[in-house]
Amino acid sequence: MLAIVPSATAPEPIEGDFLGKHIVSVGQFCRSDLDVLFDATSSLRTRVRQSDRGVAEIAKGSVMALLFFESSTRTDLSFQSAMRRLGGEVVGVSNGIRFSSAYKGEDLHDTIRAAGCYADVITLRHPVAGSCRLAARYLGRLDKKVGRRPILINAGDGVGEHPTQALLDLFTILDFKESLDNTCISMVGDLKHGRTVHSLARLVCAWGARGASLHLLSPPDLRMPPEVVEMCRASGVEVSEASRIDDRLRESGVIYWTRVQEERFENPADYEAIKDDFVMTPPLLRSCSPHTLLMHPLPRKHEMGTRADHDELDADDRSVFFQQMENGMFVRMALLAKVLSGAHV
Ligand code: NCD
Repeated sequence: MLAIVPSATAPEPIEGDFLGKHIVSVGQFCRSDLDVLFDATSSLRTRVRQSDRGVAEIAKGSVMALLFFESSTRTDLSFQSAMRRLGGEVVGVSNGIRFSSAYKGEDLHDTIRAAGCYADVITLRHPVAGSCRLAARYLGRLDKKVGRRPILINAGDGVGEHPTQALLDLFTILDFKESLDNTCISMVGDLKHGRTVHSLARLVCAWGARGASLHLLSPPDLRMPPEVVEMCRASGVEVSEASRIDDRLRESGVIYWTRVQEERFENPADYEAIKDDFVMTPPLLRSCSPHTLLMHPLPRKHEMGTRADHDELDADDRSVFFQQMENGMFVRMALLAKVLSGAHV
């Protein structure tokens, strides 16, 4: 029902001009685009915290459609909250697989253009890598029929990318660390299927920090895709890989923990065999640098131990999962403001 053929069409770089651009990959952002976006994010965060009513004018009259064909809590709610806090409206089929016409056999081509007939911006989550690039292309032909060119935002495409998660992750790191220079970021868990780490690794390269490095820890079968590793090395970021907890992890400035993506395994036995290879527990965190940041895109399961372990980890000042979540709303507000109105915020 959702099968499509991914295309290799490169997305349009931002190059200082966000207005009207589809956001499908972190590859569209250069350092100065990130500076602009993160300044807007900080400014909107301050304004929301001060309850500045002016924020609600930015997207007034605009409509966002949410099309989610995979489950979501944080991405869905934060996009909705972001649009509403900017004064815009939200329509959607949050459970797209069950309640959209995809269930009746409609292909993505028609579903996305249907949303484009009603909305100014479409936030798409889809199980197939590359689907958001294609969806953006399908929308490009819509203006000949209905005179509008809605914007597409990738909210996670299968094992491909999750650009807005990477934006909120990098924003959160910089919020705490101020600089990425000489910082080692350890990424741990299912690096093969985890779209958040694919996008974050690429974004760290786009940021261009001096002496930044990536330490990738995963079971051998769940290593980071080689093209991501090669891209990082080519951009001058040192990359090391390991298949067990080591001192480099313990000394890292950032530890980015991830879930083993059970739903992406064809054989449940393969998942069972490796699901407990990397578990972050309170004793492990106690052995890590006092200056580290512990991050996780969430949701989490046993890769952070038991519920009691979750609570103990959460209580540690180095854990910033909830700050990540809240920043997700502010980053998405900034992005929506920029693509919808080019607003200086
Ligand atoms: C992530 C995702 O959907 O890729 N979650 C999120 O968006 N916050 C991570 C995951 O599902 O493991």
